[in-house]
Amino acid sequence: GPADETAPAAGTAPATPAAPTLFDWEFATDPYPAYAWLREHSPVHRTRLPSGVEAWLVTRYADAKQALADQRLSKNPVHHAEPAHAKGKTGIPGERKAELMTHLLNIDPPDHTRLRRLVSKAFTPGRVAEFTPRVQELTDHLIDGFAGKGEADLIHEFAFPLPIYAICEMLGVPREDQDDFRDWAGMMIRHGGGPRGGVARSVKQMRTYLVELIHRKRDDLGDDLISGLIRASDHGEHLTENEAAAMAFILLFAGFETTVNLIGNGLHSLFAHPGQRRRLQDSLAAGESDLLATAVEELLRYDGPVELATWRFATRPLTLGGQSIAAGDPVLVVLAAADRDPARFAEPDTLDLARRDNQHLGYGHGIHYCLGAPLARLEGRTALATLLTRLPDLELAVDPDELRWRGGLIMRGLRTLPVRFTPRN
Ligand code: HEM
Repeated sequence: GPADETAPAAGTAPATPAAPTLFDWEFATDPYPAYAWLREHSPVHRTRLPSGVEAWLVTRYADAKQALADQRLSKNPVHHAEPAHAKGKTGIPGERKAELMTHLLNIDPPDHTRLRRLVSKAFTPGRVAEFTPRVQELTDHLIDGFAGKGEADLIHEFAFPLPIYAICEMLGVPREDQDDFRDWAGMMIRHGGGPRGGVARSVKQMRTYLVELIHRKRDDLGDDLISGLIRASDHGEHLTENEAAAMAFILLFAGFETTVNLIGNGLHSLFAHPGQRRRLQDSLAAGESDLLATAVEELLRYDGPVELATWRFATRPLTLGGQSIAAGDPVLVVLAAADRDPARFAEPDTLDLARRDNQHLGYGHGIHYCLGAPLARLEGRTALATLLTRLPDLELAVDPDELRWRGGLIMRGLRTLPVRFTPRN
């Protein structure tokens, strides 16, 4: 396409087949053939994104891992060479200058180190483990809502509400306010990250609410995450009100659509691989949990929710995978492509729920490695195991070709997932 600068000019004999078109409808449905082409022929590939911004796509595993840990690549959009070029229209979140944007994914050390240390004290793996029974309860409650009907849209009735309620409870958002969050989050997921009216309004309402909640909690500390953040900041670490609100926001935001898509994409992959699915169900019926644990990792590797890691910008000229990158250039690490790299994974296009050697990049790598990975794993395992156990004959209610994918830049996920099953109570 016009976006591609490596495609041979008309009239010259192509040395390799033409570069695939990126970011169109076909690509949203199945980006993996295009990624295979890029990995092989143009592993650090300059392209024009749908927003008009030019960026480098990094698709090989080794380059991706290196880029994710490279301190010369900043997360702060002030380093973008052309921030004014399409102000507000780049899709680069920090360039919207909204107040909630000074969060972990938009900052570098030393601020990142300070804020991450602070939140890590409140959001520990032990804390997540204590939350296990509650995630099970939420999961069962949502399934109760549709189990008697014999049909459901698993995105809207299951994958979407579960992570919102889970993270609201961990943060300490009172039950009576959680449906507001559900609405705001619904607005954001439906309309993507674009700065359009409804989304901007939802972000604003969320911020106002979070700032108020932080004030209220200051006088009435509990054992929730927001109270933990306040406590940590009162013990010598410095946390501004804006940083606290941005932290709560990123926990909601980073933990929400990702988990929706872990459940949605995961179920989709299982439906497409009935033999693998049967193995998993048999092992669950036998009360084993080993296969469940490796299965969730493999589903993340095979078709994970985060297609591209969030934005990075070169702070100085550098070479990556043999390609020179200028200071100010945006670099996008394509996790979904790296995780199918045959140089790293045996039979990368095969779904193998028992895969052991599986150091996938689905949660990122380096200092920005997913803070919520323990919670995501808990939710993913609980959701899949409970669904497949309670509704064992669950199946797609539409032809797989009719499923529609949400074509965002960072996230990969289904719009709906209609299923049917024998009704149960
Ligand atoms: C960062 C993936 C769930 C909170 C990241 C990154 C990835 C990722 C790839 C790094 C992005 C980058 O380097 O540009 C996922 C996936 C999830 C998931 C695949 C679900 C399956 C969650 C949950 C939470 C969460 C449930 C919290 C409740 C965060 C935070 C960061 C992050 C706060 C930023 C960390 C930092 O910059 O230091 N996640 N995530 N994530 N994730 Fe997750």
